[in-house]
Parts: sequence; C-alpha cells; structure tokens
Amino acid sequence: MCGIVGYIGDKPAESVLLVGLERLKYRGYDSAGVAIIDDGDIIIRKSAGKLRVLDEILKENPVNGTIGIGHTRWATHGGPSTVNAHPHNDCKNKFAIVHNGIIENYALLKERLIQNSHIFKSETDTEVIVHLIEENYNGNFLESVVKTVSQLDGSFALAIISEYHPSSMVAVRKGSPLIVGKGDGENFIASDIPALVNLTKRIYYLDDKEIAVITRDDIQFYDFSGKEIKKEEKNISITDKLVDKSEYEHYMLKEIMEQPDIVASIIRERISGEEILFNKLNFDNNYLVKIGRIIIQAAGTSWHAGLLGKFFIEGFARIHTEVDISSEFRYRNPVIEGDTLVVAISQSGETADTIAGLREAKSKFIKVLGICNNMASTIARESDAVIDIMAGPEIGVASTKAYIAQVVSLFLFSLYMGKIKWALQPEDINMYINELKKIPEKIKEIVDKKDEIERLAEQYYNRNNFIFLGRSYNYPTAFEGALKLKEISYIHSTGYQAGEFKHGPIALIDENVPVVCIATQGEIYNKMVSNIQEVKSRDGNIIVIATEGDKQIQKFSDKVIYVPNTIDILSPILNVVPLQLLSYYIALKRGCDVDQPRNLAKSVTVE
Ligand code: G6P
Repeated sequence: MCGIVGYIGDKPAESVLLVGLERLKYRGYDSAGVAIIDDGDIIIRKSAGKLRVLDEILKENPVNGTIGIGHTRWATHGGPSTVNAHPHNDCKNKFAIVHNGIIENYALLKERLIQNSHIFKSETDTEVIVHLIEENYNGNFLESVVKTVSQLDGSFALAIISEYHPSSMVAVRKGSPLIVGKGDGENFIASDIPALVNLTKRIYYLDDKEIAVITRDDIQFYDFSGKEIKKEEKNISITDKLVDKSEYEHYMLKEIMEQPDIVASIIRERISGEEILFNKLNFDNNYLVKIGRIIIQAAGTSWHAGLLGKFFIEGFARIHTEVDISSEFRYRNPVIEGDTLVVAISQSGETADTIAGLREAKSKFIKVLGICNNMASTIARESDAVIDIMAGPEIGVASTKAYIAQVVSLFLFSLYMGKIKWALQPEDINMYINELKKIPEKIKEIVDKKDEIERLAEQYYNRNNFIFLGRSYNYPTAFEGALKLKEISYIHSTGYQAGEFKHGPIALIDENVPVVCIATQGEIYNKMVSNIQEVKSRDGNIIVIATEGDKQIQKFSDKVIYVPNTIDILSPILNVVPLQLLSYYIALKRGCDVDQPRNLAKSVTVE
C-alpha cells in the first residue's frame, strides 16, 4: 500500500512522477501528491481523491523543476484527506518526504517533537520523520537521515528531498519495498518495477536497512550506520504490454482473459515430457523427502489458493498440511517442529502479515518455501526457496490470474512432492499432467462465454446479499467467489462449505438472496445436489455452476452456467472463472471502480 516515486534528471519532474504514480496506483489511491524543487524552493501539490484530481491541480497550477518525489496513498494513520496526503514537510519547508509503511513509535516521537516546538499539520505517522530530519540536520543530508532512521520503529520506504541539497534525493528502505532505477543523466526511485517501465531497465533493489543517495549522475549506497556499501545492478525485462490494459476497459477483465495463456505457459515451463520441473528450487530431494508436515500461511485470495494446496499436498504427497491466515499464524505461537515446512503464498510477496509469518517460522529455524509472483519481493528474497508463479504483473486490485497461477503451481508442486515421496504411481502423475494440459483450452471456452455471464449479471446486480456454496475441492472456490464479489461490488457476500450451511447460515435464505452453488461433476456431486435442494425448498434463488451436459441440475436451479468437464481435483481452476466474470460485470453495472475498489490496496504492507 502506498506507492512512491522519485526523479532527478533533466526532464520536467512533474510529468515523470505522474507517469510513475499512474503505474503504482494499484498500491493505494485515496490521495496523491508531489513535491518538486522549483528554483530552489520545495513546492508541494497534493489532494485527497484519485490521481486524476492531482493531475487536474497540476494542469491548472504546474510546477517546474527536474527533481521531485511523488506518492499515491492508502490511508493507515489519519484519514484520506488532503492534509494527510503525502508529501509531508518540516516546519520550515526545507525537507519533503513520502513514506510507505508504518512508524510504530510515532506517538511518542510526536509528543517529544511537539514539546520541542515542532508544528504538525497532519494526523499521519509519516510527519514525525520529516520533523526528526529537521531536528537532526547538521549540514549533512545523509547523516541526518542515518540518525533519524535509528530513532524509528516499524517499517518504512522513504524518498526525501531537501532545499539545502537541491541536487540530490535520498531513498531509504526498512521493511517496505523500494528500488532505485539508473538512467543516463537521470535516476529514479520507485516502490515497484511497473513505475519504471519505459524509463529504465537498470535497477538496484534496496535491501532492508539500506539508504541510497541519488544525484543525476551518481547513486551511492549506505547501510543504516552510514557506511558505504556496494550493490549489484540488475536488468529488468518488463514490457509495456504487461502493464497496459491493451484493448480492455479494465485490468481485471484483461487479467481474466489472460488466464488460458498463463496456465499454458506455466505448463510449458514446468512440464517436460513426463517430468515435472522445479529445477530452480533451492531445496534438494533429500530435504524434501523428509518433510513430515506443511503449514501454509497466506492472506486474502492467496489464502484461498492455500486451502486448495492442502487438498493437493495431502492428496498427492500424503503430507499432513495445515492452512493458516498469516495474521493469525503470526501471533498464535504455532507449534512447529523440525520436519515442518512453512509455505508463504503471496502474489505481491510484500504482504506484511505473510512476511511476519515467514519471519516467525525462520525465528524457529524452520525452512520457508515462498510462492510468489514477484521474484524481487521481500518474501521471495527471504524464503529459503521460491516458486515463481509466472503470472506477469497483476494490476487489478482483485486478484484473478495470480490466483489461478498459484493454484496451478501448487498443483504441480504437490505432484512433484508425490513423486519424491513415492506416494503416487507414474501413471497417476501422467494422468494428472494430461488433464492439466487440457485446462487452458477449457478456461478459454469459459472466458469466451463472457457475454452470457454479463447478461446474468444484468439480472442480479441490484441484490444486497449473495451466498456462495461449494464442497470438497470447491469450498475454497465458494470463498474466492464471495471475496471477489464483495471486493469490487461492495455487495455483502459469504462463501460456505455447502454441507455446513444447514448448521445455521441457512436461516439467511429467502427469495431475495441469490445462492451461487458450485455443483460440477465429481465425488460429492450428489451431496451437493442435496444441499441445493435444501436451499431451493426454502425459496432460495439458485445460480449453479455445472458441468456441460448436466441437464438434471436445471430442475433445481434458476440459472445454470456450464463449464467444461475435467477431473474433480482440477475443477476449482475452471469453476472460479465464471465467478470472476460474474463479479466483474455485477460491479460494472453497479458503477463501481473495478480496478480500484474503495478502501482496498493491492499490496498491504502494514500488519
Ligand atoms: C490484499 C488484496 C487481496 C490479496 C491480499 C493478499 O488484501 O486486496 O486481493 O489477496 O492482499 O495479497 P498477496 O499479495 O499477499 O497475495
């Protein structure tokens, strides 16, 4: 949450910063601002509201200057108002700062700074940092920053400019992500790579407790004691195509439509003949064969992928697996023994709760496997081994293609473990692989039916409550369908295990509540049909996701969305797709901002 950009060079900083912020708005979008040094003075323009409000303000009142910092915010301390928007400045407007993260000891620091006559304008934790820099300043920019960061508890990525030093900017990282881009006669700071697309391909990843002092032609790195360090330059290959909407109205729709290709490319990368390839995995088979227990911890949609992971790992490798919500795992002092592997699933690799869970495991000397979509992220770098889900940048706040890529990656990893543990016969593995190979084409058939789902959305978009039911492999699909809908349409929706529904929640049913039932062919199909009938006999309005050719299901349903047949264990990959599309079209018809739903951020970097 919160996106940071910084620029120093010979171009107008204003336009470079706006381009970068546009690319980072998935990280937060309740307010935005820039600070630019114009003719020796720091000028700040900021506003509550989306980036386009700032854009308008700058059009009416432009700022000249070729060095500046910018921010797009997801509020934590202090509501989403103009005064709380970043950048923040000190009492004399000699420094300006943008921040991603949380300063845990800000209240104490603020009290002391107020006693020392500092005047605060906002309710943010961030503002203490800039007042501390003001207090610690002794003529040396770096030294004042080094002293300041030693006084801060919490996580922070910072970009700072100063009127005293109009030819340099400072970047700091502790906890929250930050990268430095190297150009020709210009340099950049950004929270994430998409901000730098088309600007540079040469980047440095700041590690924890590192500082960069950046001028037009030079970048120097320091640790938190102020000692200079060397860092390796990396090359990135991200293209425009991956971060643009192409012909689609929204990133979410583009990302849903990309799913067949993403699954196909994971299969291409991970399967060669009859072999499943995890050759870049930093664990050898001698270690993997000894794993006796797995704990998956994740948040949001990634947690739903984890719930499926348990089915796959227990089913294929017969390893006892638990799935925890990261924010719970972190604080319940989990019992973990030596033969346990902790798996951290995170699209962004920057979710603070999941990082905390990873560190909790490592503090107990337990190995962690990260499953990430960003190999430069904190989780990818701190895990003992990482699986890259290879979904490409996901910009829509509601996760779609990354979910499917997580599920497919977990499926293949579980088969791989099943082989290592001798829990599966080679012919079973081949059967699963062959069925998986058919999945991209089947997803394509579903996304090609998007108009049909749009028409269904037309009939249901004005309801106030939705229920999603699934059993066995598809109860996580029900959870994910409900989460998608509430995230982007603000309709109250809940997913239940269909068998559990009669134990209380069935009291919610009346003719106004649509109940989306996932009832594709499989082992528990008949049980699911019974659960549907329980709802039907109480006047529930039933939408069913069913397998093509299943005519009898029409008797119990108001609407049926058909999906192609597959084996039971792969059905969640297909069944989630119509639910993604249904949420998308319902949100669209309600006039919601699909890619930037209210109150959310794509990457939640605070606990
Ligand atoms: C946020 C997003 C969710 C996402 C969750 C976990 O809450 O709004 O869509 O599922 O974070 O994100 P991660 O990057 O760890 O998968």
